[in-house]
Amino acid sequence: MFDKELYLNNLQTDRVGRNIIVLDETTSTNDEILKGGYQFGDVVITNLQTKGKGRSGRVWEDNGNSLIFSICLNEIDEDLILPFNIIAGYSIVDALREYVDCYLKWPNDIVINGKKAAGMLIEANTQGNTVGDVVFGCGINIFTKEFSDNIKDTATSLALNTDNELSKEIILANIINNIEEYLIDYKNEMLRLERVWDKYSNNLNKEISIHIGSEKQKVKELGITEVGALIIEDLETGETKEILSGEIGYGFSS
Ligand code: BTN
Repeated sequence: MFDKELYLNNLQTDRVGRNIIVLDETTSTNDEILKGGYQFGDVVITNLQTKGKGRSGRVWEDNGNSLIFSICLNEIDEDLILPFNIIAGYSIVDALREYVDCYLKWPNDIVINGKKAAGMLIEANTQGNTVGDVVFGCGINIFTKEFSDNIKDTATSLALNTDNELSKEIILANIINNIEEYLIDYKNEMLRLERVWDKYSNNLNKEISIHIGSEKQKVKELGITEVGALIIEDLETGETKEILSGEIGYGFSS
């Protein structure tokens, strides 16, 4: 059971995560926020998520051993949505590096030794042309030691990579502390995402396979832009491109 007091004792923010709602069980913390009634910075966490959503219609598996949380981003400037993903990625990597050596696999995954330990998903509901509720959700494999056949070759967890004591409450507080600080720094131009990419990226200067829609290309990762778009070099044509959405495969042939 998530200990709210322990979490709040470790939280150092002014706004983000101050209001935290702990649910015993829910289908999806992202869906909970998308139902409405939440404000910027509110956090929903659950002890068990039964229908977790991943990117591209995939499922996010949970058996109570993961840290599952969503942050309400209502009224965030639309231009901040792509950078927020990277800012959150940096925040999570820095919090998890207290325990394990981990990296960001653009744009949504945190990896340890090349295997996925966490995933992030930003969603919004729209009414006509207007953006309604916006949510950032994240699932981190903390204590899980066995995964389903679908993901067992590509998934890992913190517990599989450290013997140190792990606390969901302290990890979440540290992530939220980082998110608030890095968001302020980004807005003040004190954090330049593209300048620190080498500290975080799992694939910088490596040859990767990138999936854009149904297409798959072999490319080299060159960096990210100031808003978090991925800069790649097409290995067949030598052309350099910036991409705003897509997914990097696990392994060069995947
Ligand atoms: C991915 O790796 O494809 C993204 C996974 C995102 C999972 C999180 S868990 C909390 C939030 N609620 C959901 O239903 N999904 C996100």
